[in-house]
Amino acid sequence: MQLTKQEQKMLDGAEGHAVQKSMEILTALGDIYGAKSLIKVGSVQVAGVSYNNLGDAGLEFLNELAKDGKVRVLTTLNPAGMDLENWFQLGISQEFAEKQNLVIDAFQRMGILVSCTCTPYLIGNLPLYGEHVAWSESSAVTFANSVIGAKTNKEGGPSALAAAFVGKTPCYGLHLNENRVSDIHVQVKAELIKLSDWGALGYAIGKKAENKISYITGIKTADLDELKSFCASIVTYGAKPLFYIKGITPASEQQKKPKETVTIEQIDIENAYENINDEITSIELVCVGCPHCSINEIAKVAELLDGKKVVNETEFWVATSRTIKMLADKRGYTKVIEAAGAKFACDTCMAVAPLKGRFKSLATTSAKGCFYSRQNNMKTKMGSIEECVQAAVTGKWTS
Ligand code: F3S
Repeated sequence: MQLTKQEQKMLDGAEGHAVQKSMEILTALGDIYGAKSLIKVGSVQVAGVSYNNLGDAGLEFLNELAKDGKVRVLTTLNPAGMDLENWFQLGISQEFAEKQNLVIDAFQRMGILVSCTCTPYLIGNLPLYGEHVAWSESSAVTFANSVIGAKTNKEGGPSALAAAFVGKTPCYGLHLNENRVSDIHVQVKAELIKLSDWGALGYAIGKKAENKISYITGIKTADLDELKSFCASIVTYGAKPLFYIKGITPASEQQKKPKETVTIEQIDIENAYENINDEITSIELVCVGCPHCSINEIAKVAELLDGKKVVNETEFWVATSRTIKMLADKRGYTKVIEAAGAKFACDTCMAVAPLKGRFKSLATTSAKGCFYSRQNNMKTKMGSIEECVQAAVTGKWTS
């Protein structure tokens, strides 16, 4: 990879240990993927924040970098392993909280905004169309590429951090226009009625598109919550973190219809539900907010929970960013939700919190949430916000 004089100096250690380590990571990646040069990035989003995933080795790695590492561009964090303020109410141990706080402290010393959300685009980390960024959370990467039209590969935690310290990333993969061309036409001939249908659609396309870029036709409308749910699902279940929906996402009109075509029928949506849903009736945890809830989703939860009570046997988590929660406080939604016995899970989510062995069953709106919760040994049910609220106030999945 061709380096400028300045970049070579960084690699030689002229700008300190963290920058040198970062340049080693970026040049190694660039060489592996055939990048010709580094390109500037407008922002970075760092995953690998939960102590549950990092462990002591990860914490040590971060502390080492934090000694002299300072980010050069706007850098935000993915969810952590706990609500940074109300961890105790969510059943997180003191021991875990201490370690998680050390992780957050290291990121803070690097100059990173402690935002802890997988929807950074809802709280101010919103790239421009065509802007190069280095993001690492898969649903956010897919949203950035497809819905915003920014350009990013799916970075790992260390390569995203490296990009933040250098302000650049190797120019390969989805940073290059020639790699952003759709290569499979997906005709959707199914009706999408509720939010979780978008998760089911992502599952169905992910399985059929198999690491290809989808050019999707047959969808007439989509709102922000549907698109963020779809982004999380399609990339979890197989496809590339970039798709085009004709008439809805930017640049879709510039795409030629690829020759290879697959069709998504109603039966594919039904099959997706069948695969994602387990045979369970009792629900121990209900979680809405994967990806993190928008203010509209919180409003919906508040409307449905108003005057009701979550049963004692079930916990109900509303996962969101702290910033969106502040809006919910102002609009009065928080009061209604908490009065019903549901809990806000800010800064965290069901996948990265240390939940293994704590809950046996989950109800959620999210196909991605089901995928990761199964890895935490939970049985899963996916459905609408209405169905999830119903599960929370009865302790049962009824539909
Ligand atoms: Fe976000 Fe966690 Fe889902 S990081 S996309 S809420 S699994």
